Amino acid sequence: MKFKNSTLTLLIGTCIAVTLAFVVMAWAQEQGKLLLPQDKGPDKLDVSSYPKPIQDDYKVFAEKCPKCHTLARGLNTMMTQDEWSRYVKRMMHKPNSGINESQGKQIFDFLVYDETNRKDKDPKSFNRSLTDEELEKLKAGEGH
Ligand code: HEC
Repeated sequence: MKFKNSTLTLLIGTCIAVTLAFVVMAWAQEQGKLLLPQDKGPDKLDVSSYPKPIQDDYKVFAEKCPKCHTLARGLNTMMTQDEWSRYVKRMMHKPNSGINESQGKQIFDFLVYDETNRKDKDPKSFNRSLTDEELEKLKAGEGH
């Protein structure tokens, strides 16, 4: 009886330890994610005043783009139309992005509409996109 009890205690203890280890690992991974200045801005947008097709495009953007970083990143970064075109492709081509051509086009349409009708009118409220050099610097400084 005594033996059985301690086996059970050991078993439960091991389960708790393993669970804790997983939680800590997940937390560490989350902390290790690179944070950009624009990630700190709002992570959602009220698009009720936008044209219906753009509202549908926003839904695709809101579903697909927060997979690796917050939705805030896209919402608070200012780019020209050409840069957005290049950037949506760059995001699409990242491993496991889960974004196909037609979804990429919808996301691009939303971003360009939002850029022209919201961000460009109030540039001070948004972050310009970081250059590749700035991104590299941030990545290199990670964990220090
Ligand atoms: C597969 C992961 C992944 C997905 C999905 C993804 N991103 Fe990114 N995004 C990144 C990474 C990683 C970076 C950091 C820069 C780099 O490595 O290219 C980044 C950077 C950015 C930046 C910062 C640009 C700058 O230079 O300041 C913007 C804006 C952005 N993403 C928007 C989007 C949008 C819009 C979508 C949806 C189409 C999206 N991301 C989907 C991984 C992803």
